[in-house]
Amino acid sequence: MNRRLSNCHNISDLRKLAKRRLPRALFDYIDGTAEDGVTARANRSAFERHRLIPRTLVDVSNIDSSTTLFGQAVNSPIILAPTAFTRAFHHHGEVAVANAAKAAGFIYTLSTVSNTSIEDIAGIGGAHWFQIYVYKDRKLLEDFIERCKLANYQALCLTVDASTPGNREKDRRNGLIIPPRPSLATILDAVQHPGWCWHMLTSPAIITANITGDSRLEAADAKALLQYMHEQLDNHVSWDDVAWMMEQWQGPFLIKGILSVEDASRAADLGVHGIVISNHGGRQLDHTPATLDVLPEIVEAVGDRCEIIIDSGFRRGTDIIKALALGAKACMIGRPYLYGLAAGGEDGVIKALQILDEEFKHNMRLLGRTAVSQLDRSCLQALN
Ligand code: FNR
Ligand code: LAC
Repeated sequence: MNRRLSNCHNISDLRKLAKRRLPRALFDYIDGTAEDGVTARANRSAFERHRLIPRTLVDVSNIDSSTTLFGQAVNSPIILAPTAFTRAFHHHGEVAVANAAKAAGFIYTLSTVSNTSIEDIAGIGGAHWFQIYVYKDRKLLEDFIERCKLANYQALCLTVDASTPGNREKDRRNGLIIPPRPSLATILDAVQHPGWCWHMLTSPAIITANITGDSRLEAADAKALLQYMHEQLDNHVSWDDVAWMMEQWQGPFLIKGILSVEDASRAADLGVHGIVISNHGGRQLDHTPATLDVLPEIVEAVGDRCEIIIDSGFRRGTDIIKALALGAKACMIGRPYLYGLAAGGEDGVIKALQILDEEFKHNMRLLGRTAVSQLDRSCLQALN
């Protein structure tokens, strides 16, 4: 691991390094939020309203961070969230992320809009979930589901909070929209990051790898593929479609992007195996609540019927401890590993996962809790 990465001691350090390494438009795409960033800030400040109450004189010589998800043992309650166009941030993209996740023993959720295919990621080994959107083209969805079955993906995760992209003004200013429109300023900025430019120019083109085999698109370029994926988002989707997808998949099925008790109950009624409480890291509808703030009522309503995962704003081991103490089974992280990837490829992702894993275990020890099963309300003091 290089010296710059070794000098990163928390996720914020990796973010700073990523900012130096990436052309501004790409850093802004990762880091950015919708409109005024109210939700993104709320995600972070919610953690500050819960304090940790340690138990003392407990034997904490051995900390066990393992848990179970859908009946399977997993090393850690930390899951890598799906993220789009990962190869734009480092030329090794999803391959670097999947290698790091495998080394750490964490689950990696591959995005539909990844630049590496379902099969290539499966070939790396490790535990994988696949994220889908609701597409107008049901054949495309059927194909994804079939391919995931053949490639032994363990769960399917349907994202429901992105029927249209969030209003990210920085992306628009930077020309990072679909279809992309680079401005002179973004081109000048890119050439000031020669390392990134060199790798982008000398590695294969960035494509939406999961749909290149589609005969209707074979002749299309990356821009056309992006446009196609975008147009494919189905705004007429309903709960019946979820039932259809579950029927096709026949395995652990999650809905990602739920923030209300009503939707959580509806999902549980349909028999989903899990829900991901998420506001997409504050990237979609601004002014939605912090995910930590809606977690307790959703756990109360459906926690005995499906497994509850949470994401958006997790940056510290203590954040994960607090969510588990409030009833979450696991936490997804998005930007933390992308900062790592941009900062240093596979080593950078390894570093991000190590930081969170070590912070989690270190703070469990200080909290006097040795296993995930001991994280409950007794660990927390809520402030108003
Ligand atoms: C995302 N996210 C996302 N979610 C999804 O279901 N499919 C996707 O393709 C993407 N793409 C994507 C790209 C980038 C650059 C980011 C930052 C995020 C959302 C992601 O899965 C997750 O919900 C958030 O990233 C969680 O918030 P944090 O951890 O980034 O604060
Ligand atoms: C994003 C989309 C791709 O958050 O989900 O950028």
